Amino acid sequence: MSILVTGGAGYIGSHTVVELLNIGEEIIIIDNFSNSKPSTLESIKEIAKKEIRFYEGDYTNKETLEKIFEENKDITAVINFAGYKSVGESVQKPLEYYTNNISGALILLKTMQKYNIKKFIFSSSATVYGEPERIPLTEECKTGGTTNPYGTTKLYIEQILKDLYKSDNSWDIAILRYFNPVGAHESGKIGEEPQGIPNNLMPYIVRVAGGQLEQLSIFGNDYNTKDGTGVRDYIHVVDLAKGHLKALEKLNKEKSGLYIYNLGTGTGYSVLEMVKAFEKATGQKVPYKIAPRREGDIATCYSNPEKAQRELNWKAEKTLEEMCKDSWNYWKF
Ligand code: NAD
Ligand code: UFG
Repeated sequence: MSILVTGGAGYIGSHTVVELLNIGEEIIIIDNFSNSKPSTLESIKEIAKKEIRFYEGDYTNKETLEKIFEENKDITAVINFAGYKSVGESVQKPLEYYTNNISGALILLKTMQKYNIKKFIFSSSATVYGEPERIPLTEECKTGGTTNPYGTTKLYIEQILKDLYKSDNSWDIAILRYFNPVGAHESGKIGEEPQGIPNNLMPYIVRVAGGQLEQLSIFGNDYNTKDGTGVRDYIHVVDLAKGHLKALEKLNKEKSGLYIYNLGTGTGYSVLEMVKAFEKATGQKVPYKIAPRREGDIATCYSNPEKAQRELNWKAEKTLEEMCKDSWNYWKF
């Protein structure tokens, strides 16, 4: 029995593959390295001390997928990490985002259907909640009102999965809505590596602390939050990875179903709190300035993670200090 992981060389995929290998799962990865590098595969093998089967290719290509399913008759489930994820870039290149994310998911699902593989885990995002109906966000909160094509791809794919399940309830689907993943594997061998100037807070902080960027711009200090800066639910990527193992366990246990879970810690930290926590955890200074609000940002976004705790027996365990230390540790080496 094996699991096909699309985008397994990426940030969240690589950490999830390590955890899956650690519990003895056989893994097949497809990745085209559009946002990752081959050496990550070596690092995964080094950490887990296990082999993986790898296909370099595009998950939007039907022939490539069919080849994988033909050559690996033991695939029982698919975890779909592959896709583009940059909010700003998606505004500039909507067609690329809709094609890679939505067409990719459709082709993958159709190919799975052809090979009668019906266990599917999808990387969704808190972005599907748009402007939060209430805080903390539960899975029942309204979705929609996404403010960029990236977020809209997640919303549409969720809808596609719901329609698919309605049409054929022998599918077994988990939609995981990630909050803000940060940190890296404690070995320092895998982590987040955004290309160019990072958009997200933690990679930016790390590069300022490391002297590669001059100072952090804090996007707005006039939000209705504890200190005026944006509040988010940062979650250690290894905790997030483990959430996938629990989701898989659930799909293996139940006959079929469509399940939606928030994967977050349930705690919101402001940008200023993140800067202070990082400085304390690493001893590095993070110079910053207050800049105007970033378009499309919301004030506060954090989860109510109780459903995942109740139904999956999963809970984020790593502290903010570990998130900061591990992010820094990865950057340093
Ligand atoms: P990532 O960019 O590090 O990983 C995605 C991987 O998919 C990369 O290795 C990339 O090379 C690969 N890929 C992209 N298009 C492909 C294609 N057509 N064929 C084959 N491989 C392809 O991103 P990540 O942070 O690991 O995110 C994984 C998933 O989680 C994405 O779907 C993302 O939208 C979602 N997500 C991420 C965050 C976050 O903050 N990182 C938050 C919510 C949801
Ligand atoms: N921020 C700054 N300066 C920066 C970068 C970010 O002040 O240089 C602030 C933002 O304004 C926000 C907070 O830090 O208040 C977090 O911003 P991120 O860009 O790190 O994260 P977002 O919550 O905006 O978005 C991320 C992903 C989305 C995903 C969402 C929810 O980029 O793809 O989390 O999972 F949908």
